[in-house]
Amino acid sequence: MAEATTVEPTRRDFLYIATGAAAAVGAGAIAWPLISQMNPDASTLALASTEVDISSLAEGGIMTVKWRGKPVFVRHRTATEIKEAVATPLAQLPDPQADSARVKKPEWLIVIGVCTHLGCVPLGHQGDYEGWFCPCHGSHYDTSGRIRKGPAPRNLDVPDYQFVTDTKVRIG
Ligand code: FES
Repeated sequence: MAEATTVEPTRRDFLYIATGAAAAVGAGAIAWPLISQMNPDASTLALASTEVDISSLAEGGIMTVKWRGKPVFVRHRTATEIKEAVATPLAQLPDPQADSARVKKPEWLIVIGVCTHLGCVPLGHQGDYEGWFCPCHGSHYDTSGRIRKGPAPRNLDVPDYQFVTDTKVRIG
């Protein structure tokens, strides 16, 4: 008789098993939202890097795209602008950097559009060097985004980027 009671689950055992199963399901249901919250959502991923179609940007033009909350300037440089940037002696630069170290392809300059003085957004095709001019306190940048005159201490920063195709750039 003792054997029968151990083989057949009692009503009490059944309730215990059923409760355990419900608890396991419940734990699963709670765990999923917590785990899914740990993944970065789509908008966070979009901010981490951004793809820019540059196919419609004509030579001489500048487009501004937003990346991680900052403006980024994409400039399709003309042959003259490239020549000026390349020919500038490093000795004339407050923050000496060769143009070739700032571009992956000479015709495309990509820089963060934040003045390195106090963070204003400089204006394109303006200033003494026709690169950018920051009207806040008068910083002049050249066609390589390098500081040439005024209080800004550094060149415009170059973000991480790569060409996905000839007409598409991924920034970040
Ligand atoms: S913030 Fe650009 S010159 Fe001061």
